This record gives sequence, C-alpha cells and structure tokens, in this order.
Amino acid sequence: MKIEHIHGRQVFDSRGNPTIEVNVLLDSGAKGRSIVPSGASTGIHEALELRDNDPNKFLGKSVYRAIDHVNNILRKELRGFNAFSQRKLDERMIEIDGTDNKCNLGANAILGVSIATAQAVANGLNIPLYNYLGGEGANVLPMPMIQMIGGGIHAGNVIEVQDFMIIPVGARTFSGAMEIAFNVYNSTRKIFQNRNLITAVSDEGGFWPQFRSNETALTFLTEAIENAGYIPFKDVSIALDIASSHFYADDVYNFSSEKKQMTAEQFIDVQESWINKYPIISLEDSCAEDDWEGWIQLSDRLGDKVQLIGDDLFTTSVDRIKKGFESKVANAVLIKMNQIGTLTETLDAIDITRKVGYRPVISARSGETEDTTLVHLCLATNSGQIKIGSMARSERLIKYNELLRIEEILGNKASFANPFK
Ligand code: PGA
Ligand code: ZN
Repeated sequence: MKIEHIHGRQVFDSRGNPTIEVNVLLDSGAKGRSIVPSGASTGIHEALELRDNDPNKFLGKSVYRAIDHVNNILRKELRGFNAFSQRKLDERMIEIDGTDNKCNLGANAILGVSIATAQAVANGLNIPLYNYLGGEGANVLPMPMIQMIGGGIHAGNVIEVQDFMIIPVGARTFSGAMEIAFNVYNSTRKIFQNRNLITAVSDEGGFWPQFRSNETALTFLTEAIENAGYIPFKDVSIALDIASSHFYADDVYNFSSEKKQMTAEQFIDVQESWINKYPIISLEDSCAEDDWEGWIQLSDRLGDKVQLIGDDLFTTSVDRIKKGFESKVANAVLIKMNQIGTLTETLDAIDITRKVGYRPVISARSGETEDTTLVHLCLATNSGQIKIGSMARSERLIKYNELLRIEEILGNKASFANPFK
C-alpha cells in the first residue's frame, strides 16, 4: 500500500466557490478521493485555508497555489510513502509545511491528501472508511442537530444567531430522527408561508425570512415543533449556534439588527432567559473565540444546564481543548477536520475531548461538497453527535443519506446515540 501518485484539481463547493479535490493512487491500484470543505464563519485560530488572493481570478478565491503544492511538492515527497501509516504521513506533511497553522502548503492542500490517502487504503482493503479508521466496534449512529432556520453571515445577517437547529431527542433510531427532522422542517416552512414570509433557504438549507429579532426565530421554531405534533424537550429540543465571534468587538456583543449592545454578562443573561423560555439544550460559541472571561462566566452559570459547545473557541486543536478544560470552560467540542488540517490531528482532538470528559460533535462546514468523510469519521470514533446543516440541499443530504445507508448495513449491530437522555 504505497502511494504511487497524487493529483489535485480545482472544483467548486456548495456556495460555488473554488476548493481543492485530491486523488491518491496506491501501487496496488486502489484509489481514493477527497474534496475539502470551506467555512465562512471561520475562527481566527483555524489552520490556514490557502487561497490565491488574486482579485483577477475567481475574486481572489481560486486555490491554484494549494493545488500546485499538492501536484509538485507533496506528489514528489510522498511517492512511495506507506499509505497505511496515516499518522506518519500526516506528520511528514506537517514537517514539510513547517509552520504552526499550515500556512506554507495550505491546510486545504494537506487535508486533501490526508483524507484521499485514507480513502484509498479503505478502498484497497475493500472496507468502508469508518471500519478502516474505527475497526469493527464502529457502530454508533449519531444524534443529529439539524438546522431549521439560518442566520448570521450564512443568511445575509438578518439576525445575528447563526443556526437555529433541532435535536430530535425522542428518536429511537437515526432514521426516526430524520423523520422528525422532516416533519419539523416542513412545519417551519408552513409557519412562514402562512405569514407570507419568504421561504428561501440559507447556505446550509435553513429558512431565513425577515425576523424582527433573534428571539422571534426561537418563538417560531418552538411553534413549528408543537405544530408538527411534538412535545418540546420530550420529543424535540432546540440547539443554537450563536457564532458570537462574528459580532463581538472591544468587549461588546453587538446585536445590530436589534440595536442592542451587550457586555458578556448581559449577553449571558439574554441566553439564560432564552433557556428558561424555550426548549434549548445546546449552545455553541455563546461567547467569542478569545473571550475567555466570558466563557468562564458562561460555563459557571449554564454549564450544568445545557451542552456548551466550543467551535471558534477550540478550532479542533488539542492545545486549545486542553486549555478549555483547565479553565473549566464549555463541555463539548465541535470537530471540523479543516480547522486543524489532517485526519490524525482530528482524531487526536476527538481523543482528548473524550479524555477530559467533554462531548465531541462532528461538524460540516457552511461550504460543503459531495464528500462524506465526516460521516465516516463520526462512526469511526463513535462520537455520538453530528451537525451537518438542514433538510435541504444535496451537499447536506448526501451525508444524512450515507448515514441511512450505514444504519441499514449495520442492521441490528447499530446503536443510536442519545447523549441527552
Ligand atoms: P462555518 O459555519 O462552516 O461557516 O464556519 C459552521 C459553524 O460555525 O459551525
Ligand atoms: Zn459554529
């Protein structure tokens, strides 16, 4: 299982932006392919996604330099490398890059090769990727958090909170969870149609009509859950990704749509009042990526009541997750492969998350593709929760559909995670 050839090319993601696709060919003839996703609400501590920044080409968004690094540097350096040693391969690429945030070669270039190699080995072994990465014990279908309403920079900044999602806590199986998601999604659409609000969808497929305030979206979503015939908390709960780094500056959280400027304490008060009024069980990035004091206060006040996920806060980095644990902040970690840039470091991040007693939540990006690797990563690590986006747009559905296939293949060996029981 030696690497024979690596080839990168430019393709497009779900927003129509350029991204990198990598093919890896092994000497056995086995092939693997990956397409790297891309975030919009990226954290400043993420590994660097290398773009050409040439205003005359794809508005600066082309990735030809990253592709050049794959097709010239990595192809030569890794020819003959044992594809089975994923850790050594990833370490070698980190060494060739030589920087902390992968800004020389680009995290997109490195991750593309990292994943395509794992895919090639799994294909060569003729087993699914989740079995290659997780062995025979990989059998836990995750509890999904499914977006119903989009906000923030994924939806024209009509309101600031980025994701209004449901967690179908009453489901017994993954396919049962998807049925609930379907029903609530359609009931959400109906609420907007009945009020003559537009039902266009945002970057991850959730609706984004004009709301008067962030809280209005919560009122509508709770109503949608009830209209679909479900009991809040018992059948269906709410998860929010506040993505607050994007409206935080100079110690102020700024809901500009509501002309409200808040200190961390006041912003936590608002979120606490929401928890008391609506069936919310999970909050992500409630405080900004470097507002550690805010995070400490938040975790102290709400950490026993709800799941507190760090996304921009942790950026899938072992060091930041450790710091979070030592500072007693958050209790869950959003895991995004391209925040850190290799499969091995992602697995290490999931590992440390578990070791400190936090929950991993495997996540897609707002710019996605037909690549389903994250589903396999979730299964392989029995992570138990997944965040993919909404019930619309095929770059989301392809992942849910892959989970449905796996559920069927595993049959009665499959178990379904419910961390909220
Ligand atoms: P992103 O959004 O992919 O644009 O970063 C997803 C998230 O914030 O969870
Ligand atoms: Zn987030």
